[in-house]
Amino acid sequence: LAGLAALGANAPAQAEEVALKHDAARRFPADFVWGTATSSYQIEGGAKADGRGPSIWDVFTHLQGTIEDGSTGDVACDHYNRYKHDVRLIKELGCRAYRFSIAWPRLFPDGGSTPNPKGLDFYSRLVDELLANGITPYATLYHWDLPQALQDRVGGWRSAETAKAFGHYAGYVAQHLSDRVKTIFTINECGRFVPFGYGLGIDAPGLKLPQQEVNQARHHVALAHGLAVQAIRANGQAGTRVGMAENITACLPAIDTPENVRAAEIATRELNAGFLNVILEGHYTDAFLAWSGKDAPTFTADELKTISAPVDFVGLNIYAPQAYVVASDRAQGFDVLPMPSSFPHMSSPWLQIGPETAYWVPKLAAKIWNLKTIYITENGTSSDDKMTADGKVHDLDRVMYLRNYLAQLQRATAEGVPVKGYFLWSLMDNFEWVFGYKQRFGVYHVDFDTQVRTPKLSASYYRHVITTNAASA
Ligand code: NOJ
Repeated sequence: LAGLAALGANAPAQAEEVALKHDAARRFPADFVWGTATSSYQIEGGAKADGRGPSIWDVFTHLQGTIEDGSTGDVACDHYNRYKHDVRLIKELGCRAYRFSIAWPRLFPDGGSTPNPKGLDFYSRLVDELLANGITPYATLYHWDLPQALQDRVGGWRSAETAKAFGHYAGYVAQHLSDRVKTIFTINECGRFVPFGYGLGIDAPGLKLPQQEVNQARHHVALAHGLAVQAIRANGQAGTRVGMAENITACLPAIDTPENVRAAEIATRELNAGFLNVILEGHYTDAFLAWSGKDAPTFTADELKTISAPVDFVGLNIYAPQAYVVASDRAQGFDVLPMPSSFPHMSSPWLQIGPETAYWVPKLAAKIWNLKTIYITENGTSSDDKMTADGKVHDLDRVMYLRNYLAQLQRATAEGVPVKGYFLWSLMDNFEWVFGYKQRFGVYHVDFDTQVRTPKLSASYYRHVITTNAASA
């Protein structure tokens, strides 16, 4: 831990001085929440500990050829056993908030309604440890580790039964943890796990279903979100807030003329019609239904009502600019420009670099859906980190990425876009799904043989941002 200071982060007194001198124009709002994020399957390990049931990711990773380096999350960062140490790492960063996810199969090993108290106890202890260290817990209920039993019994998200089971699980969490956990995210990145897990067969459960069934699965996830909102309202203590964390399809004006900005606004709404928009507006857009044609999901008016139960905030996961948009004479009102193959990206090829994503996405979302509270629930990058002989990781490319994105996010808050907090993905290197341990997203390096965590240069950088509450140039 001492290494962090040695890497150049300022001592507290010096930091105060820097904060005072810091150009006021680059500061974030005084009550801005700085945090970091992880998810259960990616860090916990303890796959069979204390009665945890298998998830679809346990089964999927154990199949041949599914994960690039042949690895699994069986041990991952062994956070299940090392959580106290990891809470200290969060504190060292200066974060006052931590977004983690709860593994559904720890609480309900067979996906049904019989709870496993030992599973709950782990999260209860984690929450206590966070609070004792001055860190506010932000919990996600679904970060992809569906109980395998639900996949086997009803086909997972292919069935509305899974949505109902999720509602029950959400109510249980609210009942038992909302005395201390006041912010709950229902679903993480529906926009990833549905198409990749049910359409392309790349993520668990590895299905390649026809488009109608993919749309239906997405509808069930939206329904699950709505049922969870209801259950949390019914079971949560006063002051419990609920929303989702979505990888919104990031639409940006290619050049920010008023026409293109308007086009990016239309595109944001339409390209997020299957999840965010139906939740926030309570109906599928005409364009979405027309594009989907016979593949459109089937739904009832009652379901739409449940899906669109009011939320307290919207969480946005922001990484790459996905659609550079220009105005168009075509009926839809926008065109998406093709991405040149030479567009720069980070070490993950999908992670193209568009810092202005952190400006436009929350700005357009706030305008379209009249949002009052937005969290950036994830932002960060993988990097081809190498440890030097003397044990340092100089991840200058990650620092470059964060610096540029944070400057654009600050530009948004300075204009009054209601972004209330930012969660850096990720606290430490972890199991990056189909890429296994090959792609490192942490600001702490993890040696997966020894489980030693080492702060990277980016940890010092982030601590400096937090101390000064400013996007440092
Ligand atoms: C979004 C996902 O929520 C998270 O699980 C993943 O590790 C990061 N993106 C990086 O790909």
